[in-house]
Formats: sequence, C-alpha cells, structure tokens
Amino acid sequence: MREMSDIRNIVILTGAGISAESGIDTFREKGGLWEKYPIEDVATPEAFERNPDLVHHFYDQRRKALLSVKPNKAHQSLGCLDRAWDGNLLIVTQNVDDLHERGGARRIIHMHGELKKALCLSCGMRSLMEGALAHRPPCPVCKASTLRPDVVWFGEVPYKMDKIYQALARADLFVSIGTSGAVYPAAGLVQEARTLGIQTLELNLQKSDGSHWFDSSRLGRATDLVPDWVSEVLRD
Ligand code: OAD
Repeated sequence: MREMSDIRNIVILTGAGISAESGIDTFREKGGLWEKYPIEDVATPEAFERNPDLVHHFYDQRRKALLSVKPNKAHQSLGCLDRAWDGNLLIVTQNVDDLHERGGARRIIHMHGELKKALCLSCGMRSLMEGALAHRPPCPVCKASTLRPDVVWFGEVPYKMDKIYQALARADLFVSIGTSGAVYPAAGLVQEARTLGIQTLELNLQKSDGSHWFDSSRLGRATDLVPDWVSEVLRD
C-alpha cells in the first residue's frame, strides 16, 4: 500500500449515492428510480422507439428537478480537491446531474451522459438543453425535431471509455464513491485498477456488489466520508 504522499494521479468514480443527500433519487435502493420506472420502459433505445413521450417525460422531470437541488458537501469537497490538486485527477461520474460542476469540479467525464444536453438523431450534434424535450423543440444546429436526451441507455456504449482507461493506466489511486457497482463497464473499473496495481478505496453507505475488490472500504454518508477523505489527501 502506498503512502498518501506518494499519490500523484487520482481517478474518482462517482454514482447516484453522492447526489442522494442533495435530494436526487438513487436507482436501486428501496423506493429508487428503477422501482418507480422500469428500466425497459424508460432507459433503452427500444423504449424510446416504442414510447418517446414517456421517455421524454421521465428525463424532462429529472432535468426540471435539477433546478431545485444544490451540490452537497461531498460535491463541494471534490471541487476543492480538483482546484487544489496539481497531479492528474479525473472524476468519472455515472451521474447525469450537474452537481459536480456546480460543486466546483472541472475535470469530469459524464460516462452516462448529461441531463442538460440533447443529442440530435438527424445531425448527431449535442446541444445544451434547459427546457423540456417532450414538446419536440428543434435542434439548434439542423432545426430537425429529432432531439433525444443525451443520456446513455442500457445497450448503448458509455462515453469516453478510452480516456477513462488512459487516466486509469497512469493513476496511483482509484476511489469509488456512492455507487452500487451493479452496472458495467463502470463496475469493472476497480478490477481494472487492481490488475494495474493501483491502490483502491471505496466510500459508500453500505458495502457494494464489488466491495471485495477494494483495498479498503469506508462506510457512511458521502457528506461525511468525502470531506474527511479530501482533507486527508490535501493535508498529506
Ligand atoms: P445505485 O442506485 O445503483 O447505487 C447507489 C449507491 O449509493 C448504493 O450503493 C447506496 O448504498 C449508495 N448511497 C446511497 N446514499 C448514499 C449516501 N448518502 N452516501 C454514500 N453512498 C450512498 O446507483 P449507481 O451505482 O449510480 O445508469 O447506478 C449506476 C447506474 O445504474 C446509473 O448511472 C444508471 C443506473 O442504471 C444508467 O441509467 C445507464
């Protein structure tokens, strides 16, 4: 195990648990999003083909909900770490919310896309999207009314995996925060990190599906664990 003072390059994976205390529902916990909305109805390309209105409604609601939530202490402390850290750092988030950005972080990859972007099925361009897609606004680039949420659905390939693996290949530390480890390829990053001999740490409310892959797991709320861990990193 390396001393913290030997760590230069960090990759951080985040999931729904980091935004839970901001009031955003997680997916797989009791009462989570996938209990209320079955995946096959709202989160696959086939669902969108079958019932685009329902899919738009689901993501429009979630986009609107972003207006009433704020980044919490966990997002803010990762923002501080990003600003202060002069080694390589990459926050790979599975979250489609914008709370890392609003918490001050800049080095972020949204591997599952972003609620505040739309993807045009005609011209392939991405555009910022604050409002609803259900009423079929035109694409700002080609004007076709063929926008879909710019989120990765089940059966689609997450974004920027090459950049994520490159960052992992030169990392000294991999930290996973607030994710159940149920969805690949994100869930496989810890195994990749181990293969590469990188130190691994999990911060989560409870042990995740892949807990046994980590060198250590700290259990508790993200708003307690993340600020404490960031203080440790910056102190050393
Ligand atoms: P999950 O809902 O699967 O898991 C959330 C994790 O966060 C659980 O392990 C909880 O124990 C933990 N958690 C909850 N509250 C917490 C808190 N206050 N502090 C720390 N941890 C907390 O969400 P994800 O793992 O993010 O993908 O799900 C991964 C992907 O599955 C999502 O990006 C989404 C979903 O299907 C797509 O839609 C493609």
